[in-house]
Amino acid sequence: MKDIKITIIDREGVKHNVDAPTDMNMNLMEIVRSYELAPEGTIGICGGMAMCASCQCYVLSDHELPEMSYDEDLMLSEAFNVRDNSRLGCQIFIREELDGLEVELAPEV
Ligand code: FES
Repeated sequence: MKDIKITIIDREGVKHNVDAPTDMNMNLMEIVRSYELAPEGTIGICGGMAMCASCQCYVLSDHELPEMSYDEDLMLSEAFNVRDNSRLGCQIFIREELDGLEVELAPEV
């Protein structure tokens, strides 16, 4: 089992350095929820189906992320506060290559 380090800036601008397991098939939205970095009910509303954008985040580090799926792309095209570096946290799965990833949570919608 190997944990990676992820930096998550919450919606108040506070930086959190957290450990995330690579062997549990967790996604970034679930990590944010497990550390309670966003109030319950404001993130992960669709349960990770790429259908709500409540898990939107801005990727600040230059990690190469897997390409967006059609569903993620479509959801982000309809979401608010979208930037060039926006991704849906529920579509980013925790893998060893993402060690050192830094993201900022998008504002609550
Ligand atoms: S949790 Fe709904 S889009 Fe990610």
